[in-house]
Amino acid sequence: MKLEHIHNIAIIGTGMIGTSMAVLFTGHGYRTTLFAVNDELQVKSEQQYETFFKALMDQGLVTEAQYEACRGCLHYTQDYSTIADADYVFECAFENIPVKHGIYAEIEKYITDPKAIISTTSALSADDLVEGLDKFADRMIVAHPFFPPHLVPYFEVVKSVKTKDGVTEGAVELLESADRAVVVLKKNAPGFIANRLQHALFREAINIVERGIADPRDVDKAAMYSFMPRYTKIGIFEHIDNSGVDLNYDIENYLFKDLSDAKEAMPSIREHYEKKEFGVKSGKGYYDWSKVDMADFAKRISEPYWSFFNWEMPEK
Ligand SMILES: NC(=O)c1ccc[n+]([C@@H]2O[C@H](COP(=O)([O-])OP(=O)(O)OC[C@H]3O[C@@H](n4cnc5c(N)ncnc54)[C@H](O)[C@@H]3O)[C@@H](O)[C@H]2O)c1
Repeated sequence: MKLEHIHNIAIIGTGMIGTSMAVLFTGHGYRTTLFAVNDELQVKSEQQYETFFKALMDQGLVTEAQYEACRGCLHYTQDYSTIADADYVFECAFENIPVKHGIYAEIEKYITDPKAIISTTSALSADDLVEGLDKFADRMIVAHPFFPPHLVPYFEVVKSVKTKDGVTEGAVELLESADRAVVVLKKNAPGFIANRLQHALFREAINIVERGIADPRDVDKAAMYSFMPRYTKIGIFEHIDNSGVDLNYDIENYLFKDLSDAKEAMPSIREHYEKKEFGVKSGKGYYDWSKVDMADFAKRISEPYWSFFNWEMPEK
């Protein structure tokens, strides 16, 4: 539910993450201002915002009137002085430290008293990012989302060494008010939590294919029809306890020595990379994408997340 003490949210960066974050916050009735670099990028973001909402409306999750009310909460600016009173500033710019540091300098110049400056970086360390801040260094944190953050209801939050007490708690309260499940890491780690888990699984999936145990299609079938559906309702550690610590202890002692412990990208992914077989974007990767119904594929990507949609939306 919307927090009444938060009046203005500013988002720097009108790309996919920034615009999706705007859907999330306006969708919960927060006055949200997106900072665009120029008119062209502003228009692109306005169109993307509408596209994100259209998908929600097509699912019957949002009415036209609710969309209009949310759109009324959204503002654009190309001038930092208009967002001087922002309570929270989300930095959603390119994944590049000098770019992000340049933005932090502007924030410190114009924004009077932000409760937190929050980077949505995928991989950069909060301790490196905070080096670009001076007077607000104790208010900077990372809140890593998954794309698109208005649909995937999870954020992992990391403090920097300089973050003062209360900053993280306030940001978590804001994200939870927007129906996100939030985890605060006890300490920084590359890949945070979810990408460490995901890439450990990718490594073994590729290993199975490279060792000729099964084709990608059958590895995908194994994952989709065996254990993955379980983990939308229970957690990994709940499963370990439920199936038995003793059983898992025995399995791990037998199995782990046969699993990949590769320390760099696997040979077959490197091979695809070198041939510029980047997957969907080039038409070929582990699969041939040239004849795939991409609209249906896009629907399959979003479908598991519709059930999390329970927003209390503005009506007018
Ligand atoms: N796309 C994802 O799947 C994903 C997931 C999680 C986190 N992230 C992270 O979120 C951030 C944004 O990612 P994205 O996918 O939206 O990128 P994007 O390339 O779509 O958008 C980046 C935006 O930054 C803006 N920008 C660049 N320099 C700027 C400046 N000096 N001032 C103001 N705005 C500036 C650009 O105009 C653009 O709108 C990155 O740090 C990325 O790592 C991305």
